[in-house]
Amino acid sequence: MSVSAVSITETCRSLRERVNARLDKYVEQAPGVPPRLRDAMAYSLLAGGKRLRPILVLLSCEACGGQAESALPAACAIEMVHTYSLIHDDLPAMDNDDLRRGRPTNHVVFGEALAILAGDGLLTLAFQVLASDISPPETAAACCADLAHAAGMAGMVGGQVADLEAEGRAVSTIDELEGIHRRKTGALLASALTLGARVAGAGNDDLHRLASFGRSLGLAFQITDDLLDVCGTSQNMGKAVNKDASRGKLTYPSLLGEDASLLRAQCQIAEASKWIESFGERGRRLEALAQFVLERDH
Ligand code: IPE
Ligand code: IPE
Ligand code: MG
Ligand code: MG
Ligand code: MG
Repeated sequence: MSVSAVSITETCRSLRERVNARLDKYVEQAPGVPPRLRDAMAYSLLAGGKRLRPILVLLSCEACGGQAESALPAACAIEMVHTYSLIHDDLPAMDNDDLRRGRPTNHVVFGEALAILAGDGLLTLAFQVLASDISPPETAAACCADLAHAAGMAGMVGGQVADLEAEGRAVSTIDELEGIHRRKTGALLASALTLGARVAGAGNDDLHRLASFGRSLGLAFQITDDLLDVCGTSQNMGKAVNKDASRGKLTYPSLLGEDASLLRAQCQIAEASKWIESFGERGRRLEALAQFVLERDH
């Protein structure tokens, strides 16, 4: 491993610990929650995971001159939305998966009704956390709007609908595929960058650069997810592999083949890197994280 790979691994480990500690507080200490619902929410939220989106929030905040501590609520909020999306994505009515983050999926353990409600609970808690714990109030409102837009009908939810509609279709185009991936995964990931920048009080130019970095990174991230479904291991991924083909999913490897897919991911990462050049030293860790997305095995 190169020196920069070692140091980004260490950076991620320490930021992940801070995020995990705060997530634990948010979900374990809220009063008045039915115990079974709390268990179901905590089961998926505190099950590990790379915490890529919260780490991006914190590093984006730092790249804009802010303190990571002030962005922790936003980092937790995006992870709550992401975890809710995973719980629902795994449901029998969607991808019907039984392994996630190295453990049985939420509905396998708690049943479908509670899994749906645990997802609902996490989605709602995310906006409670942003509205209550981000200051000043104008920044909290802007963060709520960013996250809602990214997670909603024109973003992740819309992309998930398009993903399901494309299942099993005989003919599809690269434009359609790119549109699905940009919405179902890219939009939320890009919002990690704008959330961090907003908390740091960044101006419009920096917001635009970081959002553009995030959009390319987000597309590359879903391309590598598709590739890892074909060539990764269930042990490393903590979820089943080789499932996209069996469900007739529209993916990069199924449409373009593995080599051309990797090339597309590499191009997106090169594009992402250009957008943060102007941040100089303060953008180095974001750039190292972009390389991780390309080279990851989990
Ligand atoms: C999995 O996301 C779902 C996709 C959007 C591809 P991650 O690969 O970030 O999953 P965790 O959070 O590490 O479990
Ligand atoms: C999921 O894409 C995107 C989400 C919004 C959760 P996938 O369906 O490919 O994610 P995995 O492979 O199940 O993690
Ligand atoms: Mg899916
Ligand atoms: Mg899935
Ligand atoms: Mg996948």
